[in-house]
Amino acid sequence: MDLHLTLDRAAGRLAGQLAEGLRDAVRDGRLTPGVRLPPTRDLAADLGVSRGVVVTAYEQLVAEGFIVSRQGDGTRVATCPAAGPAAGPRGEAHRRALRLAAGTDAGPADPPGIAYDLRPGKPDLASFPRDRWAANLREVLRELPHTALNYPDPAGVPELRAELAGHLARVRAAAPEPGGIVVTAGVAQMLATVPRILIEEGHRVLAVEDPLGHHQIPMLGATGIELAGVPVDEEGIDVAALARTPARAVLVTPAHQYPTGVVLSPRRRSALIEWARDVDALIIEDDYDGEFRYDRDPVGCLRGLAPDRVLLAGSVSKALSPALRLGWAVAPPWLAVRLRAARALHDLGSSVLDQHVLARMIGSGEYARHLRVMRRRYRARRDAFVAALRERLPQVRVHGVSAGLHAYAELPGTCDETAVVAQAAALGVAVEGVAPMRVGRPGPPAIVVGYARLSERRLAEAVDLLAAAVRAV
Ligand SMILES: Cc1ncc(COP(=O)(O)O)c(C=O)c1O
Repeated sequence: MDLHLTLDRAAGRLAGQLAEGLRDAVRDGRLTPGVRLPPTRDLAADLGVSRGVVVTAYEQLVAEGFIVSRQGDGTRVATCPAAGPAAGPRGEAHRRALRLAAGTDAGPADPPGIAYDLRPGKPDLASFPRDRWAANLREVLRELPHTALNYPDPAGVPELRAELAGHLARVRAAAPEPGGIVVTAGVAQMLATVPRILIEEGHRVLAVEDPLGHHQIPMLGATGIELAGVPVDEEGIDVAALARTPARAVLVTPAHQYPTGVVLSPRRRSALIEWARDVDALIIEDDYDGEFRYDRDPVGCLRGLAPDRVLLAGSVSKALSPALRLGWAVAPPWLAVRLRAARALHDLGSSVLDQHVLARMIGSGEYARHLRVMRRRYRARRDAFVAALRERLPQVRVHGVSAGLHAYAELPGTCDETAVVAQAAALGVAVEGVAPMRVGRPGPPAIVVGYARLSERRLAEAVDLLAAAVRAV
């Protein structure tokens, strides 16, 4: 096969460069569906790199669904690659379909004229393992008896709850108890439900971190609970300030605070649990970005330290895709019963087929493998993004990049945050300001920037434009 692949040896990360070159070749149609790629040994010899470089690049593309590797059949371009090559007329509708498939266009809600979407909160949608999801779904459909296609247990199908219990015990030390896991439609559904249960239990106030994800403010507010914002500093939520509120329940993001990116310090973890024990409180632990940790030691979840006091909630929204609307709550038994009852009352549970597919992917190790591949990719993007920011915007202080998929960039005190966001958008770069995420108190100007969805090269281009936006205001 005569493929024009160039590697810049001086730039390092050869496997990443090779994967990008092959991905581009699939996207622009130079590599067509079904075509066989050279064996790793041959391509390594052609390119003058070690075989491991090619193996890593192939593994990455298999996980993304661009290529398929089968024993005895070698490695081929997938028949429905993640961002398939162009076929048929290349009109705007077709290009838009490709952009949608590639995740470079989040749909009609995208602001017009945005070439670099750095809004936080979304994973690299182009990396969804389409082939593996489809293959597992086919097996589920072949094997599930007709009776399983009935309404499910509203707490989730037993197979998924069992796999989640094992996974969360292994990876997050989450101390799941039998009957303590409820499958949810994402963390969002838990957030819309638990405050209502708390109100039934006599609570009036829910403490939240300030700042807080701006989608969550109306979601929590709609439940009727009153929000008490508690400041977040470099150690995480200020527990002394929390203790001064009337709240007996708190929502926290200890793994990677959203949006500041702070990891809750061990000291604050102990203080938070002590507070909960002292005042008989519930801690709602949104395990935001718990899967993505780069250069710091693993941090277990709060729930593992105090299972009687903590509800842990997570989802596949960052690990796979938010489109699945699949998540979980690991709750103390009394609350798991109430959550299950709420699902029975409101929506009768989540898709049985999707639950079984996820259960298989966890059970077979595919889910963990996918996470490993994505962690490597996000880490490379994080490195490129932070290096570009340091070079182009040295006046910006970058926080929260040891984990997760976003950075919290504190602007110089004199900067008008809203003007920077608007100017960046005018130059084609979408980022979010932190002001709409503040619950009560004002704070320094900052922007929240998601780096997960763009290649290293495009991230550097976006940072150039961002620097121009900051200079212009
Ligand atoms: C901090 C935080 N937690 C949870 C969620 C909800 O995620 P999902 O419902 O997709 O699991 C979001 C989504 O915007 C978020 O920003």
